[in-house]
Amino acid sequence: MAVVAVAQVDDIPEGTSTEAVIGIETYVICNHQGQIHVLEGICPHRNGPLGAGNFADGRVICPYHGWEFDCVSGEYDRNPLVRLKTFPVRIEGGQVLIEIEALA
Ligand code: FES
Repeated sequence: MAVVAVAQVDDIPEGTSTEAVIGIETYVICNHQGQIHVLEGICPHRNGPLGAGNFADGRVICPYHGWEFDCVSGEYDRNPLVRLKTFPVRIEGGQVLIEIEALA
């Protein structure tokens, strides 16, 4: 496993989201009610870039066809069996850190 920084805390004010690309993986980082969460950043519908979409009421909204995912659980709002992978977050030195499989 490797620890990587996906964002600076100051770059994600409450109620916003952003995108990070680490190696070949894409992540969406959101700040919901002051808590930062990190999820996989590619939509399971047709690979939309979730970090490029809107973020509202704690939901990441895919810019392609509007599927909405809870930014805490990763759950798709219309089918809870579909959910984004979530990553435990650690904040250190103003950075948002997650653990990922080691980079090649
Ligand atoms: S690709 Fe995300 S809703 Fe279609």
